[in-house]
Amino acid sequence: MNKNNTENNAKVNVIAIDGPAGSGKSTIAKLLAKRLGLNYIDTGATYRAITLLALKNNVDLDNEKEILKLAKDAKIEIDSNPKDEQSYTKVILNGEDVTEEIRSNLVGSAVSIVSKLPGIRKFLVNFQRSLANKGASVLEGRDIGTVVFPNAVLKVFLTAKNEERVKRRLLQESKKNLDADFNKIKKEIETRDKIDSTRKDSPLKIAEDAIIIDSTNLTIEETFEKIKDIYLKKINSKN
Ligand code: DC
Repeated sequence: MNKNNTENNAKVNVIAIDGPAGSGKSTIAKLLAKRLGLNYIDTGATYRAITLLALKNNVDLDNEKEILKLAKDAKIEIDSNPKDEQSYTKVILNGEDVTEEIRSNLVGSAVSIVSKLPGIRKFLVNFQRSLANKGASVLEGRDIGTVVFPNAVLKVFLTAKNEERVKRRLLQESKKNLDADFNKIKKEIETRDKIDSTRKDSPLKIAEDAIIIDSTNLTIEETFEKIKDIYLKKINSKN
């Protein structure tokens, strides 16, 4: 093994949390960040921001060239303060606060289309790595353990039964939208899961060395404790 390979194989102090929509990634990632003093990075927010940029500029969602141009010219500021687990990552796009707008149904149904584009993924993976430059971090997404940080010290694939994931999203949604509907959310989650797991470039899949946690019957605290214990063991054995 040459020197470069050795360096590339060195583990980085990153917790990678991947999993399907509604599996509890955000809640757990924020809790880990808050209690263990890590940076929290919501990579889904970066795909949502670029999707909003495409929508605002009336660019076709599969027009990679145009979207990439817009993305390269844009100023995207992500402020991931995990102190309040309920709040979203603050996203400023070209000076405008789009934190709420990137969570709209419109963006939700368009984001899987934009996130299929390889050029956009490449651009955003670099951006996400730069966000994690500040030190020990927890990143959540779909390809963190497989693509963004394949050398993460801990990789978790967080999942939960479909019905439970829909129920969690419904609970979240009904806090802001009285018309939130179980069947509509179920359909939206199923469609997104399908596109995210079958796309050619970096599909949602379980990294070989990931720990799989099914949180269907676990509380948030139980899930947190499980991950925290494994992380601390890994970190301590690394030093
Ligand atoms: O986690 P989220 O629901 O905010 O993610 C929105 C979409 O972004 C998701 O449907 C797929 C895409 N995504 C991705 O392809 N890779 C990531 N690392 C994170 C999100």
